[in-house]
Amino acid sequence: MAEATPLLPLMHSLIFVLLLFTTDTTVNCSQEKKQLDLLKFLHREQETHNQRCWPQKPRSEKGVTILEMKHHGFCSGKNKNWDDESQKRLIADNLRVKSLQLRMKNAASGLLKDLSEAQIPLASGKQLHILNYVVAVELGGKKMTVIVDTGSELTWVQCEPCKSCYTQEDPLFNPATSPSYRPILCNSSTCGALEFATGNSGVCGTDGSACNYIVSYGDGSHTSGELGSDSLNFGGTLVKNFIFGCGQSNQGLFGGAAGLIGLGRSQLSLVAQTSWQFGGVFSYCLPSTEDYGASGSLILGDNSSVYRNTTPISFTRMVPNPQLPTLYSLNLTGISIGGVALQASAFSSGSGLLIDSGTVITRLAPSAYTALRDEFLKQFSRYPSAPAFSILDTCFDLSKYKQVNTPTLKFHFEGGVEVNVDIEGVFYFLRRDQACLAIASLSSEDEIGIIGNYQQKNLRVVYDSKESRLGFGQETCSYV
Ligand SMILES: *[C@@H]1O[C@H](CO)[C@@H](O)[C@H](O)[C@H]1NC(C)=O
Ligand SMILES: *[C@@H]1O[C@H](CO)[C@@H](O)[C@H](O)[C@H]1NC(C)=O
Ligand SMILES: *[C@@H]1O[C@H](CO)[C@@H](O)[C@H](O)[C@H]1NC(C)=O
Repeated sequence: MAEATPLLPLMHSLIFVLLLFTTDTTVNCSQEKKQLDLLKFLHREQETHNQRCWPQKPRSEKGVTILEMKHHGFCSGKNKNWDDESQKRLIADNLRVKSLQLRMKNAASGLLKDLSEAQIPLASGKQLHILNYVVAVELGGKKMTVIVDTGSELTWVQCEPCKSCYTQEDPLFNPATSPSYRPILCNSSTCGALEFATGNSGVCGTDGSACNYIVSYGDGSHTSGELGSDSLNFGGTLVKNFIFGCGQSNQGLFGGAAGLIGLGRSQLSLVAQTSWQFGGVFSYCLPSTEDYGASGSLILGDNSSVYRNTTPISFTRMVPNPQLPTLYSLNLTGISIGGVALQASAFSSGSGLLIDSGTVITRLAPSAYTALRDEFLKQFSRYPSAPAFSILDTCFDLSKYKQVNTPTLKFHFEGGVEVNVDIEGVFYFLRRDQACLAIASLSSEDEIGIIGNYQQKNLRVVYDSKESRLGFGQETCSYV
């Protein structure tokens, strides 16, 4: 009995805390939140990634081909300075977005001349890693790891004889040792298709017959060489005479990858070249960037029974974009934060925005971004702020927490399509004491918005050029 007395004040305070808690939940009743576990981000800072993490061989089933997709940022890494790497990534990401805007403006003003200035950069020449995704394919009988890019057209790999090549993990491709390799002639229509696809027309080689290509990325990275064809094989699907760039002069450390595959909309992209087999449909699930070794998948072909989606795939219209006809555009009609619908002029102006696998951070028109940031700050006000980082202006110090209650982020697209952004796509983690809202503002309302790959994680994203639509469903990515 005597021991009961000292408990009383404690009970009072408990009731007080309970009351506070209750008040808090009442306030949050209309706001949707998710628990974000912070321990895995702390873990990442201490990890060293010396392992290789190249993707496995693709497989075919039910009329589609499934490729394992890996996040490239953690592959082949030494013990890197995370802060420094993150800064470089965001700078490169900004260059990509800037050159994209330039490309659109040039097209709008009929200035099609200097497209070499306006190509989408993939990685800065000084960059060591890219926050991007790779798959394994077999070209001319040789296995190689290539970057997947929906913002590119021409597939290319580094080739012998090499005038200038960056360091890659796989052996260089040698066309001389591949009996099925053929150079593309410079008087062919395929060579003529380069101009639309890459912005630079094909040039006849010194022998007068070979077609030489050049693709320049806005940050100084580039690839040039001979346009050729060879057998492309993935998971038992054989694409004979697949057209690609045999790059003899390549600059920019493309993260040690052998090259890249272009999944854009021109006739030279992998999608167009395999449409006889896959019908112009592909989809991906981009794995977590926080779980080292996480796998996703790139699926070529249209059979939804192989997806692992946990919510139905809902489709929105692919919006035509005359200025950027080789890229994928859709119509963003709204955004909600914690269930609160944002109001912004950008949502009613009716201009489309791009979806891109190679841009990292989603960019929004200033009116939309400001509304998003303000609502997020309102709902996340209990957490201390931290300095801005590069293009990310809204950062928090979460070092004192194990878990945080994070407002949900939802995109709304034409046709009533709702896309829940995975909780890992809400913050860009630099350190425990600097976690930034992973969305950035464009510099003006008339620039084009972009849904970046950071906000596409753990979603099945279906690109259906046949039906001119894009689909989304939640999926916890895995290859197996
Ligand atoms: C898709 O997969 C199902 C089995 O789940 C199969 O019955 C169907 O034939 C496949 N569709 C195509 C187009 O291959
Ligand atoms: C292209 O040039 C080659 C010789 O280099 C010639 O044999 C061929 O007929 C030409 N094709 C066309 C379509 O002009
Ligand atoms: C986007 O959707 C809205 C609502 O359906 C519509 O009013 C607007 O015209 C659409 N924008 C484009 C570019 O199609």
